[in-house]
Amino acid sequence: MIIAGIETSCDETSVGILSDSRILVNLIASQEKIHMQFGGIVPELASRAHLEKIVPLFNEALKRAKISTDQIDVFGVTNKPGLKGSLLIGVGFAESIGYALKKPVYNVNHLHAHIAACFLNRKISFPALGLVVSGGHTSLFLLTSHTEFVHIGRTRDDACGEVFDKVGRMLNLPFPGGASIERLAARGNENRIKFPVAYIRDCLDFSFSGIKTAVYYYISKKGTENAADIAASFQKAMVDSILLKLEDALSLYPVQNFLFGGGVVRNNYLRRKLESFLKNKKVQPIIPEPELCMDNGAKIAILTEHLVLKGIKPDPYRICVLPTK
Ligand code: KG4
Ligand code: ZN
Repeated sequence: MIIAGIETSCDETSVGILSDSRILVNLIASQEKIHMQFGGIVPELASRAHLEKIVPLFNEALKRAKISTDQIDVFGVTNKPGLKGSLLIGVGFAESIGYALKKPVYNVNHLHAHIAACFLNRKISFPALGLVVSGGHTSLFLLTSHTEFVHIGRTRDDACGEVFDKVGRMLNLPFPGGASIERLAARGNENRIKFPVAYIRDCLDFSFSGIKTAVYYYISKKGTENAADIAASFQKAMVDSILLKLEDALSLYPVQNFLFGGGVVRNNYLRRKLESFLKNKKVQPIIPEPELCMDNGAKIAILTEHLVLKGIKPDPYRICVLPTK
């Protein structure tokens, strides 16, 4: 079965094509350069860039996968959550081409698909836990199968990646701040500054805005002369805060596999900490390679494949009707 996955929910246009769970191609056109000058994503510019890129990127993906459009059996597309204007381009494209070729189109949840990137080339033991750490979300899921996700925790305020980006701006680092902070932190002392580690009791929700505010007040008072130490101490506080919640999640749901996804999971410090923390708990961490952690079409395609295998019916063609939530 050949599946094309389309992703346009934020600032990456992507087309991934799978043949029986194997990636034939996974092209990602990043808009980083467009948004860099504004220090954040400008939604209107994002949707215009998706519109320019989606057709040429799809044609290039077919060429590299050495297939023609009529060999595609199924389309999958992110339809939520994300920027409305950006989602509209991907959904409009997938539904139009599916309708023209008389092929089914599945609407796919972007967060579930971040976790589904872990299904590529791996056998998962269910129930499992899954954590998405991205620019827009920090969400915990209980997975009872490849297609059933129960949302058991989320951030009460800022998303983890959002805080990395905001602290990056405070330190005058290029957008997006996450990767720049990781690079800077590698030269710093993570124990130099004690930023507060946020923890909400009796639930599986996260909170990161307190750490952000603490960094803001630290910089207002002391400046950014020791930027590397600020970056390292901030990164440590964020990761410690995540680990506290993973501990709680595992005591409620003692699973064998913990799955991870989302752009922040590209961070090597976080990856190392997750691995050592879970090794001590005798839980297998499943962490996709860095490119599959970011927004990409292959993760949409693999979740689509599981929806098809489960016998779930495709969504009817509605041409650009997006969910309200
Ligand atoms: O999943 P993603 O590509 O897009 C969303 O769905 O939001 O995540 C983007 C986020 C940005 O906030 C970016 O700063 C963060 O992932 N990020 C990182 C790193 N690379 C990307 N955060 C920390 N360390 C990194 N190396
Ligand atoms: Zn994402």
